[in-house]
Amino acid sequence: MCDTWTCSFTVSRVLKLTVDFPVNSDMLRQLPLERVVTHERVDSTNSEALRLLRQGQICPFLVLASQQTEGRGRRGRRWESPPGAGLYYSLTLEVPWGMQNIAALSPITALSVCSALEKLGVNKLELKWPNDVLGDARKLSGILLESLKIEDCLFIVIGVGVNLNLPGATKCVIGQPVTDVKELLGSDFDVDRLAAGITAQLLANISCFGENGFSEFVADWNDRDAYLGKQVRVRLNGSVIQGEVQGVNALGELKLRTESGDQVIRMGEIMPSVRLIASDEVMR
Ligand code: BTN
Repeated sequence: MCDTWTCSFTVSRVLKLTVDFPVNSDMLRQLPLERVVTHERVDSTNSEALRLLRQGQICPFLVLASQQTEGRGRRGRRWESPPGAGLYYSLTLEVPWGMQNIAALSPITALSVCSALEKLGVNKLELKWPNDVLGDARKLSGILLESLKIEDCLFIVIGVGVNLNLPGATKCVIGQPVTDVKELLGSDFDVDRLAAGITAQLLANISCFGENGFSEFVADWNDRDAYLGKQVRVRLNGSVIQGEVQGVNALGELKLRTESGDQVIRMGEIMPSVRLIASDEVMR
């Protein structure tokens, strides 16, 4: 096993894409990043990353915070971010010319977060398309991707929130079942190790995606898909589609078997919310 960062980007394409290295908090300093910006408190690490981009910060760079006062979730929701209770993380990259299907970075990020958590001992994680990580059928991590075009360059901010040790009062105000690492693992771990592990895995996976597209990730996603073979309802701008999840295709899109035939739900144009349907529930 390699013990330096530069040779540790060992990507196994045979079984699963995993980054083979000992993860420790020093790694954060050894990552191939232009800058790591840390804040005790910030409105949102994604907002801070977008501000830094506009000020001309060179990519790739990482923004971390111990607390967010206005953490942002998908579809305009708030992401509860009390001090020291979660990983609040935004990795910013320039998207290379010619990189197709940027929407697939959403499931690729979820897979990367999953692998990094597993390396630290958090097991039995599942995924909910397009990019939620679940532990014990409850939300452990959420991902918010935002893009910014400056002149001819396209940048992407990959925002990741992982619940580490949420206060009970916070869990109560979140409108869905949530869990945290403390609950799943029975102990805390160093947030910097998690940030380093996610970054290493993300950079390796994005590089593989740039070369080979999403097809290499399909099996891994489907293995971890919490809803594979189950009936769900997908909300798309104003309408609702019901069907059985058939996994993802080679573009990272959701395949649904509906009464009116097979449908593909694309990322980017739509903001779906996938919800399991109880067997006695009728379609509203
Ligand atoms: C979701 O709704 O599931 C996405 C949540 C994303 C939260 C993270 S926390 C770090 C980054 N900064 C933000 O304001 N949001 C993302």
